[in-house]
Amino acid sequence: MNQPPDRGRPGDGDEPLSGFYGAEEARSRRSVGDEIWSFIDAYLEEHRGGRERLIPLLHRIQEKIGCLPCEVQEYVADRIGLAPVQVYGVVSFYHGFTTTPRARHQVKVCMGTACHMARSQRVLDALADRCRAEPGGISDDGLFNLDAVRCIGACGMAPTIMVGTAVHGSTTPRQARRMVDDLRNRAGESAGETGE
Ligand code: FES
Repeated sequence: MNQPPDRGRPGDGDEPLSGFYGAEEARSRRSVGDEIWSFIDAYLEEHRGGRERLIPLLHRIQEKIGCLPCEVQEYVADRIGLAPVQVYGVVSFYHGFTTTPRARHQVKVCMGTACHMARSQRVLDALADRCRAEPGGISDDGLFNLDAVRCIGACGMAPTIMVGTAVHGSTTPRQARRMVDDLRNRAGESAGETGE
């Protein structure tokens, strides 16, 4: 069985921390398009520096491909001079990062105390039904991620939901259903225009 190249342990000697498997091993897994490697290289070329580039770069990658697969994290680690585990740690710490593909629309229903008192469960149920997704899941057409979250800081507008970055207050189940229908219709129209 082929062994990964021995790159030493993170923190050994004076060398910068390096990925265990390295950039070439990450590239060879081919689960993402080749353009992502050039994108990362170009970003790091343009933004010289150290590990402070990690989070902005991860955001840019996620904007581009929708998630941060392991091999991409390993590639980034190698290129910045970190151990993969340091990048995994950042990705798993921040809720904004995900390692699995996300849907086009991120729908979050606040289940914090104020929203709970304002019957946010009914809104969540209506959204789950209309999106055809369980909380924490993705809809069968890949259009919606539905999540139940804690206070989003708009308690005075309870019950609140977020669609993307937009906060909607005093949401009724009916409004929530209509929102999903509108987004689905718009997606259908744009698919029709592009011939998908
Ligand atoms: S509890 Fe829902 S926004 Fe605060």
